[in-house]
Amino acid sequence: MPHISLSNLMVAYGNQKVLQNITVDIPNNQITAIIGPSGCGKTTLLKTLNRLVDLYDEIRVEGEVRIDGADIYDPKADLLNLRKKVGFLSQKPYPLPMSIHDNITFGPRIHRMNRKELLDQIQELEKHIPIDSLCPNGRQEETRHSKTHEMAYLVEYYLRLAGLWEEVRERLHAPAAQLSIGQQQRLALARALAVEPEVILADEPTSALDPISAQLIEKQFKTLKNHYTIVVVTHILRQARRIADYVIFLYLGELVEHGPAEQFFSSPRDERTRAYISGEIS
Ligand SMILES: Nc1ncnc2c1ncn2[C@@H]1O[C@H](COP(=O)(O)OP(=O)(O)OP(=O)(O)O)[C@@H](O)[C@H]1O
Ligand SMILES: [Mg+2]
Repeated sequence: MPHISLSNLMVAYGNQKVLQNITVDIPNNQITAIIGPSGCGKTTLLKTLNRLVDLYDEIRVEGEVRIDGADIYDPKADLLNLRKKVGFLSQKPYPLPMSIHDNITFGPRIHRMNRKELLDQIQELEKHIPIDSLCPNGRQEETRHSKTHEMAYLVEYYLRLAGLWEEVRERLHAPAAQLSIGQQQRLALARALAVEPEVILADEPTSALDPISAQLIEKQFKTLKNHYTIVVVTHILRQARRIADYVIFLYLGELVEHGPAEQFFSSPRDERTRAYISGEIS
């Protein structure tokens, strides 16, 4: 069963329909890129996947979005659980006004995870992505990050998972605001991961970053897809080519074409796709 399955999705702001007839399955444990010209509905589509669109007054959503089989727009759906399961990384990082360390522990504390849950979480993570695999030169860490200090261990784990650990390990208690924008975006990723989502949504996550920082995020996504399903909005075609396994192409609120990235880029079926990837329309 696909993690995320959209059928006949329609989204309107007031009377203005911005998405219609969207039917697509988003594959598990892959990176799906949503691409298309400005204003075609990419952000809106992304935000329907964890009901962030609910924040707009005039919004209307019809059709279905199923995650693990359950319709997330069902009035009985558990919103808090949905937002935990489906994390969101925005264009610009907004670190919480607290230390680097506390930015990571914030989520687990909000969800009131107890010691046993934290230990279970670590065990589960280690099954998929062992901490040693995140340490380029092997892990020669001191015991204070041992499994008996589960929060310290989690902080290290998520910072490693976001590719930030080495840069901040000596200043975990410094304010997060002191980090560079590129580091803040990786911190935002670590924070999103810390509530243990299954899906990560990212809206142009590298657009505010310098090329090196952007590269780091792309690299991290490729590591993460072994354990998470990732949906990225990007208007950078080259980025989509670099990281996407699957592509969804929107044009004027319509789903023009979707499919495995290789096929999508090498032999597009629709004339509009061909024109878009060749740069004739933008
Ligand atoms: N809160 C809102 N209220 C009314 N209309 C909105 C709102 N948000 C977006 N829209 C409209 O919906 C359409 C799709 O917007 P959306 O932000 O999803 O596009 P996008 O593909 O992400 O564009 P961009 O590449 O510029 O970020 C646009 O016409 C936009 O003006
Ligand atoms: Mg957008």
